[in-house]
Amino acid sequence: MRVRLKRDVICTLFLVVVLCSLFYSQLEHTPLTGSRKQTHKKPAPTPRIFPGHQAPKWHPQAEVTFDHSQIISIAKDVEVTSKQAQTTPLPPLTHSVFDFKRYLLNKDNRNFNLLINQPKKCRKTPEGPFLLIAIKSVVEDFDRREIVRRTWGREGLVNGVQVQRVFLLGIPKNKTALATWEILVHQESVMYQDILLWDFLDTFFNLTLKEIHFLNWADEFCSSVKFIFKGDADVFVNVENIIDFLEIYDPAKDLFVGDIIYNAHPIRMKKSKYYIPETMYGLGTYPVYAGGGGFLLSNSTMRKLFQACQEVELFPIDDVFLGMCLQRINLKPVLHEGFKTFGIVKPSAAPHLQTFDPCFYKDLMVVHSLKVAEIWLMWNLLHNPELSCTQKKKVKRPFQWNRKSNVKQQPKAG
Ligand SMILES: *[C@@H]1O[C@H](CO)[C@@H](O)[C@H](O)[C@H]1NC(C)=O
Ligand SMILES: *[C@@H]1O[C@H](CO)[C@@H](O)[C@H](O)[C@H]1NC(C)=O
Ligand SMILES: *[C@@H]1O[C@H](CO)[C@@H](O)[C@H](O)[C@H]1NC(C)=O
Repeated sequence: MRVRLKRDVICTLFLVVVLCSLFYSQLEHTPLTGSRKQTHKKPAPTPRIFPGHQAPKWHPQAEVTFDHSQIISIAKDVEVTSKQAQTTPLPPLTHSVFDFKRYLLNKDNRNFNLLINQPKKCRKTPEGPFLLIAIKSVVEDFDRREIVRRTWGREGLVNGVQVQRVFLLGIPKNKTALATWEILVHQESVMYQDILLWDFLDTFFNLTLKEIHFLNWADEFCSSVKFIFKGDADVFVNVENIIDFLEIYDPAKDLFVGDIIYNAHPIRMKKSKYYIPETMYGLGTYPVYAGGGGFLLSNSTMRKLFQACQEVELFPIDDVFLGMCLQRINLKPVLHEGFKTFGIVKPSAAPHLQTFDPCFYKDLMVVHSLKVAEIWLMWNLLHNPELSCTQKKKVKRPFQWNRKSNVKQQPKAG
């Protein structure tokens, strides 16, 4: 009896082992193996994996869960394609494969010429600008620059302090897409004196070069500035709020404020736009960094970062690279609620609410992922002298019976 039981147990164990190894060998041939670690990991407090400027736009889900669902949805795609792979050849990748080997080989090539400069940008007033607005743009996005110039990126006196603006550009990758690009940037530079153009290809993976070259430029040509806002062209910035916020800070002290991302993990799925192989970055988490949609820094921090970044090896994701520079000088970036570089998260139960309420924007500093028309509209609504955000205040007041609303309606009726 005992022997038979033992034999049965051994038989069952053997079968389980065989089945398991069969299953495992099946799995090993799918690209999912690389991502399993990611999807199984329970998210840390709020780990955000996607750098700010490419975050999905107006995502209707709650902020805490959205990267996680992103990863899962990517993992699902991978699963689907790997199933297809058994019968049909793999469809082409959506992103052209990034050549990490070449990137590593060329990493020391990090000094490029400034083709269009604005050497007098920060010398328009003797004491220098209070705020310099530096906006990452690409040559092709003329309409975005134009709307920023006419709205939140205005130069001159704002709330009693001097504001100046520059756009940060590289050479367009596809020169046939806009054959007149050279004449365009030259004309813009003459007209607005806000164009900085460097001699490197303006690609996603070269944004780190833009970061370094801008800090370099700021240190050389704008050392009198008190504070810098650096951001994307598809954001809405409430410059008045930023100036209010900055008024109590000392530009000679460290300050780095934005939408800060803690505990982000490098993405090891080859299909992702943010894929980073272990040969390039071996650690499990990135240093603390700010979403690239928009952040603020002081004169003192700009100078320190400029020096620190010169000593940090190039890394293809610019936000993370700047995080590495911050880490090097042991500077802790400060999280501010007013920086929504992942876009505004709409409550899923009422997606129609708060989408375009200027009163909602009144308290924010930076909102990411807006269309040109939305930036224009929001700025104009916010600067309408008739704008009164009483509705918001009414909601906050304690509940009262109809008396109040009756009183309000009377003058209208009469
Ligand atoms: C460059 O842009 C043109 C016009 O938009 C397009 O037809 C062409 O395919 C692009 N070339 C590349 C290499 O992307
Ligand atoms: C960055 O720009 C340089 C100079 O134009 C170019 O050789 C290189 O291929 C670009 N790198 C990437 C990753 O696009
Ligand atoms: C900013 O730093 C420079 C040194 O690079 C200094 O000369 C200047 O006075 C500083 N400006 C302010 C407003 O702190």
